[in-house]
Amino acid sequence: MGHPIAHSRSPRIHARFAELTGAPLRYEARLVPLDGFPQALRDFAAQGGRGCNVTVPFKLEAAQCATTRSERVQFAGAANTLVFEGGAIHADNTDGLGLVADIERNAGFALAGRDVLLVGAGGAAAGVLGPLIAAGARHVTVANRTLAKAEALTASHAALAALHKTELLALVPQALERDFDLIINATTSSLAGDAVPVPAHVLRPGSLAYDMMYGPAAAGFLAWARAHGATPRDGLGMLVEQAAEAFLIWRGVRPPSAQVLAELRSA
Ligand code: ATR
Repeated sequence: MGHPIAHSRSPRIHARFAELTGAPLRYEARLVPLDGFPQALRDFAAQGGRGCNVTVPFKLEAAQCATTRSERVQFAGAANTLVFEGGAIHADNTDGLGLVADIERNAGFALAGRDVLLVGAGGAAAGVLGPLIAAGARHVTVANRTLAKAEALTASHAALAALHKTELLALVPQALERDFDLIINATTSSLAGDAVPVPAHVLRPGSLAYDMMYGPAAAGFLAWARAHGATPRDGLGMLVEQAAEAFLIWRGVRPPSAQVLAELRSA
């Protein structure tokens, strides 16, 4: 469920997961009116729906509508995966797990002990900060144009960061002075046609520069990263891996996500 939804690759990804695992799943895209998300959930449950993925702009509403929320949803304040059980709705968030899986398994980049720059402090950034901390990052700087949002995000994760001994910092992009092992773009600046919202000195040769978007929306960031000697990676793998985690929640089996990612890339 989303708005817009026509561009979504998820129906194709889940159809392939079902084929490869032999665990049947009917998964279709639904365009939901901007003011009609709670009703759309009720309608779908009444029609026999068992759960759904939720995308922009309904992820916050999905967390609020749910009757139970995973710890990940409580940290992110947003949900992308719902499970209908009787009259109850359980909310989970697989975005961060998908990002971590793509970075660690598909890109072969271990997060433990790394210094990470997370650019942006909206819903997309909120969904991944907890899993980055849990994966053992040594340090995470959240850089955002609006400092108060970066500060709110790091404050809400302070206890988790202390538990994992991760250092957390909130800055505006102009205050960034050092370079990082991993830079993650979680802003929507490219959609507005704006430049990459951090200075190039955050990159060094060998840094992994990850855009959570894919396709044309990621092109500017990836070209910028390449021009400064970093290793660019788009968010297609994150899309496939978050889908695999959702499939696991619904069907109890984790599909061969790396194979499906390779198929998507070659197509
Ligand atoms: P999403 O849920 O996809 O994260 P969002 O909540 O609207 O979307 O957040 C968008 C993020 O991109 C925010 O961090 C936003 O910065 P502000 O919090 O300062 O608004 C960031 N962003 C959007 N356009 C930007 C631009 N042109 N330059 C820098 N940051 C931008």
